[in-house]
Amino acid sequence: MRVKAALCYLASFLSLSTSTILQNGQVRQTHFLETKVAPIASNSTGWKTYGPNATELSYKGRWDSKHISWWAAPGLKFGFSGSNVAITFGEHTSPGVLVAYRVGGLDWQFSNVSAGTHHLISPSFPNINTTQSWQLPLNFEMRVTNWGLGVQVSAVHLSSNSSLVKIPNFSKTIEFIGDSLTSGMYATYEAFSGFGYNIGAGFGNVEFSITAYPGICLTDANCWDNPRGQTYQWFQTSDTSWRASEIYGTEPEKWDFSLHPSADIVLINLGTNDNNTHNNLTSDQYYNSYLSFIPKVHEVYPDAQIILMSLWKGFSPIGNSYSQGGAFIDEIYGVYEHFKDEGYVHYFNSTGVLQHNDYGPGYHPTDVGHIKIASHVLQYIRLKFGWELGAYGPEVQHETLYWNNEPNY
Ligand SMILES: *[C@@H]1O[C@H](CO)[C@@H](O)[C@H](O)[C@H]1NC(C)=O
Ligand SMILES: *[C@@H]1O[C@H](CO)[C@@H](O)[C@H](O)[C@H]1NC(C)=O
Ligand SMILES: *[C@@H]1O[C@H](CO)[C@@H](O)[C@H](O)[C@H]1NC(C)=O
Ligand SMILES: *[C@@H]1O[C@H](CO)[C@@H](O)[C@H](O)[C@H]1NC(C)=O
Ligand SMILES: *[C@@H]1O[C@H](CO)[C@@H](O)[C@H](O)[C@H]1NC(C)=O
Ligand SMILES: *[C@@H]1O[C@H](CO)[C@@H](O)[C@H](O)[C@H]1NC(C)=O
Ligand SMILES: *[C@@H]1O[C@H](CO)[C@@H](O)[C@H](O)[C@H]1NC(C)=O
Ligand SMILES: *[C@@H]1O[C@H](CO)[C@@H](O)[C@H](O)[C@H]1NC(C)=O
Ligand SMILES: *[C@@H]1O[C@H](CO)[C@@H](O)[C@H](O)[C@H]1NC(C)=O
Repeated sequence: MRVKAALCYLASFLSLSTSTILQNGQVRQTHFLETKVAPIASNSTGWKTYGPNATELSYKGRWDSKHISWWAAPGLKFGFSGSNVAITFGEHTSPGVLVAYRVGGLDWQFSNVSAGTHHLISPSFPNINTTQSWQLPLNFEMRVTNWGLGVQVSAVHLSSNSSLVKIPNFSKTIEFIGDSLTSGMYATYEAFSGFGYNIGAGFGNVEFSITAYPGICLTDANCWDNPRGQTYQWFQTSDTSWRASEIYGTEPEKWDFSLHPSADIVLINLGTNDNNTHNNLTSDQYYNSYLSFIPKVHEVYPDAQIILMSLWKGFSPIGNSYSQGGAFIDEIYGVYEHFKDEGYVHYFNSTGVLQHNDYGPGYHPTDVGHIKIASHVLQYIRLKFGWELGAYGPEVQHETLYWNNEPNY
């Protein structure tokens, strides 16, 4: 499993330097838009500029007081009139970080952005129609695709005769607490292809936040160079990245739960790293960390239903077939049993959802694997809690259109 850690660093290095996506070892064809433009000064000719704290801007996931994004697939959403949106990204933007963005339910477009101004929406945005009155104001949404890289929003610019419009939040919120699995490590578009995003965005009518980071443990211990575990880090605004330690050292901003909509559902998938011998943790440490974590989550979100997901760990050949592993099976079920009479803790049994070829050589689900997990969890939440699916067409998973129109072979 040392290999896994090494791959982790390699992946961050690649995404910083080239934005090349390797698919089964081969360069994948991508269609990223070039959006960088000369800096737009505040309210310069033709533009109207809003600061990063404009009340019409709705930040999704975790952003700090400097408007720097953290964790997996954080987002920004707002309504606007006119047909131009440019964003000036601040100095704390990861160079070349890949963002997905769109208007309304049009397909996601991608651009690698850096500190400076990027003209993201213009009348030439693919398929945009800025004149149908029933769909005005237009909704803009952007997501950082990675789990550890991020952006800093310094200003939003619209055409000078346009305005930002505050759009209401969806009434339901789901919170994901996880590690590399939930954050989509090694999936095509990383967090943006992971099951956390696929569940949150898959509903189409809920707010979601993915507080997940590769290698992190539930137990508050150093795991794969993440200095702290989720029993500590989840209460902080920033993640365990090097980027965060550069800015905040060991004193991150605390996350103020009271300033944000409370989660209605919390989905926890943690322990795969606690279960790795590399990190020297015992099953008692894990179990006790889990027992202490649940009441803390319940304290900040008293009305949330907390779902504990069982872990699959990986697959190994056995006889003439393959078999799913599993990590801390008894411990997680034990935590569920411990709290089940209180009514707010639930157990999602993930056994049998994935098969061995839903796993890539980097020990993480493939895009198909992530979609399978998300589909099962979406249906589980729908049946168990009565949440309805609210996306009737707009793209959720990007570039998953594999088709065959040559029959008869
Ligand atoms: C994305 O980043 C790479 C490397 O930084 C650069 O060569 C490329 O031109 C950028 N833009 C697009 C549209 O890919
Ligand atoms: C741009 O001008 C508007 C008034 O037209 C003002 O409210 C706003 O604060 C200005 N933006 C900046 C960043 O100065
Ligand atoms: C936004 O920040 C500016 C400068 O930091 C401050 O003057 C202004 O009151 C803030 N506006 C809001 C809506 O918080
Ligand atoms: C936008 O949609 C309206 C109403 O469907 C249509 O009349 C108009 O031609 C469309 N504009 C463009 C540029 O496609
Ligand atoms: C803004 O100005 C442009 C160019 O002059 C014009 O085409 C557009 O209709 C105006 N939009 C609004 C909302 O007034
Ligand atoms: C929606 O939630 C976000 C994130 O907490 C917040 O920034 C924004 O102000 C909220 N929007 C509304 C309309 O309440
Ligand atoms: C785990 O224990 C071994 C042997 O005591 C030690 O070499 C290693 O540094 C420990 N690893 C961590 C992450 O603490
Ligand atoms: C991982 O979990 C399995 C199944 O519960 C258990 O047998 C094993 O001892 C655990 N390993 C570590 C290193 O915690
Ligand atoms: C989880 O599902 C598997 C496969 O159906 C089953 O064998 C196992 O008993 C289930 N675990 C629990 C705790 O229900």
